[in-house]
Amino acid sequence: MNVRTLRGTNDILPAEIKKWQFIEEVARKTFRLYGYEELRTPIIEETALFTRTIGETTDIVEKQMYTFQDQAKRKISLRPEATASVARAYLEHAFDKKRKFAKFYYIGPMFRSERPQKGRMRQFHQIGVEAIGSYDPCLDAEIMSLAINLLKKIGIAQPNLAINTLGCRKDKKKIAKELRENLKAQFSELCKSCQQRFSRNVFRVLDCKNENCRKITHKLPSLHQSLCPACSEHFKEVKKALDILDVKYSVDDYLVRGLDYYTKTAFEITHKALGSQDALGAGGRYDNLVSDMDGEETGAIGFALGVERLIIALSDHESKETTDSSIDLYIATKEEKAHEESFKMADLLRREGIATEIDYLNRSLKSQMRAADKNGVKFVAISGEPENNREKIILKDMGTGQQEEIDKNDFVKEMKRKLQDYEAHA
Ligand code: HAM
Repeated sequence: MNVRTLRGTNDILPAEIKKWQFIEEVARKTFRLYGYEELRTPIIEETALFTRTIGETTDIVEKQMYTFQDQAKRKISLRPEATASVARAYLEHAFDKKRKFAKFYYIGPMFRSERPQKGRMRQFHQIGVEAIGSYDPCLDAEIMSLAINLLKKIGIAQPNLAINTLGCRKDKKKIAKELRENLKAQFSELCKSCQQRFSRNVFRVLDCKNENCRKITHKLPSLHQSLCPACSEHFKEVKKALDILDVKYSVDDYLVRGLDYYTKTAFEITHKALGSQDALGAGGRYDNLVSDMDGEETGAIGFALGVERLIIALSDHESKETTDSSIDLYIATKEEKAHEESFKMADLLRREGIATEIDYLNRSLKSQMRAADKNGVKFVAISGEPENNREKIILKDMGTGQQEEIDKNDFVKEMKRKLQDYEAHA
């Protein structure tokens, strides 16, 4: 049987997993600083949750969802994103009644049936946050600042933050009408997809990558001209709050997002290392989503970063945390009898919190030493008959190459001390 991973999906191998764990750990720590708590929602949901919130005429819903019928003939989809699920959970578990304002974060796989390429997968992973329950423009700025700070902590230098406002739902309707009026004369010059978007979802025309469409859209008047005073004011306040937090940004009048639920603030974070799929992450306000799901009118905002893309952007910045071996000590044995002894010793060391490995391939001492070195372990203990008889263990520091004999009874204590020293000087 020659079974391989499905197109657009990946095994994440142990050699890469340290980067993933590093990113996840930094994210968890950073989110805690801003008061976010983890929420894990199911990977499958009723299809209607996504079609109604993301929008019937979006690419995600029209072309990219993995949808199937279960045994009970219910329509189920693999989640293409998590914002809708978080809003569902917020209502299902009555956070609207208990807390009003709640901050959640999530880390996990999402699924979109897109044409795979660098930075674009069919199963990909997002790290995201959703703050539900407030209309305060300072929250918009805090969330963008959080995203930028997180990227910095991960080691991704110089991300670009572009922001825009789409206005409230009323403004969006007005803007859509104006866009159609302004584009009508050039309809025949638009690409085939944009001609379809024109009536179905005209905002998406602004997002088209086609050169010709771009030329046309960039001559359009700014969307900002059509905003109501409250939305204009909100955007002004968001920019002011970003300045207070010293977050650098540019305003992109044509920035629209591929999900219909956005209102007012929308933003995208890009990075030059990424090529054509250059968005590290994106987000925005979705002040109607909760009420569309039969909750009360509720302000909300969030973002999601794509982990695969973070890793691409990070690859030039290998930090120490991402390259260290997780094994502290390898016990190499000289002969078979000593193996039983190391087997027991490894168990004792692990109970004491020391990551230990032993040989399971019956290799020579030399090849055990070579394997330990290749795996980047910090220390190697050499255990053999003569040393065992003298109640001694030879310990080699793989960093300095120095070797010493340690009393077997003191070994755990000594190892702990050495590892503490190691960490202190790392
Ligand atoms: P999104 O822009 O669809 O927004 O996705 C956010 C990020 O996920 C993208 O910027 C990208 O880094 C990553 N991403 C999306 N699709 C793929 C893919 N096929 N392969 C690899 N990475 C991908 C959302 O999903 C919104 N839920 C974000 C949000 C949260 N808005 C408010 N709250």
